[in-house]
Amino acid sequence: MVESGRRIVALRRLNHEQLERLRQVAEVEVFDDLNEDNREAFRAAVSRAHGLIGGKLELDEDMLAEAPLLEVVSTISVGYDHLPLAEMNDRGILLCNTPDVLTETTADTAFALIMATQRRLVELSMMVREGRWTAHVDREHFGSDVHGKTLGIVGAGRIGAAIARRGALGFGMPILYTANSAKPELEAELGAQHCHLDELLSRADIVCLVVPYNVDTHHLIDAEALARMKSNAALINVARGKVVDEQALIEALHHGVIRAAGLDVFSQEPLSVDSPLLALDNVLLLPHIGSATHETRDAMAWRAVDNMIGALTGKGAVDAVNA
Ligand code: DGY
Repeated sequence: MVESGRRIVALRRLNHEQLERLRQVAEVEVFDDLNEDNREAFRAAVSRAHGLIGGKLELDEDMLAEAPLLEVVSTISVGYDHLPLAEMNDRGILLCNTPDVLTETTADTAFALIMATQRRLVELSMMVREGRWTAHVDREHFGSDVHGKTLGIVGAGRIGAAIARRGALGFGMPILYTANSAKPELEAELGAQHCHLDELLSRADIVCLVVPYNVDTHHLIDAEALARMKSNAALINVARGKVVDEQALIEALHHGVIRAAGLDVFSQEPLSVDSPLLALDNVLLLPHIGSATHETRDAMAWRAVDNMIGALTGKGAVDAVNA
């Protein structure tokens, strides 16, 4: 038991060792998950807390208004679009995230989607499982190459660069990318070409979305953007669902405006069982698993713990978003 008088609320994803580490600096109240039965208790706990740590944190403006002691929010994610950053800034609450440790794993997920979408792996696996493999696979079921195809990276940050490396070095893919400014190191290493989104969309065979979600990237890929893409191109989204106008994507996939999509993220998660996406054969759907490996989720949780402790003890958080 610590004497600091500090209290931390931990929501989801922390193991015993990580909780014990937090208990060295504060009392810790743990919520393994949230449901209708414990949501009020969670809100009450946050209203008494100095720190809030966890995955898929639920925190809104009303909760912030009721949490006068709250100093630090440490999210176990690199993205923080689900958190009310402006209000946290107004209240002087520090936000920490977990960059770097998930870069390669998320790039692996993007590449898995690229491979599976180009070669129609899930669709063809279903054909075998359902006993529909009764003759030689013919043109109707052929896929498209990955190697040598032009890969467009929309948002060449850390994860985008890691995807580009896989494509260029492993699969001989020419790389196009968008970014706020050119990345000379990426161009020198991979021969990548910085271009405007419109040009990338019209030239790439595979368009991979890796931008953070914010007001500027809301529905960045709308009907007009989809119409710019090649009709045999694939769209891969490991960023956030709302970067894409999902209704426009459904129409585009349905009418063959683009050939296929591989999606790890959706406008609403979990994806509704009523979503028209489920009725399309040319879309591959994953349940937001970009960083979901044992190794990486553990590394993210430790990073969030270190950030929380650094911030609460005054030693400084490594990944302060709004310091
Ligand atoms: C992130 O870290 O932002 C990933 O999307 C997992 O939530």
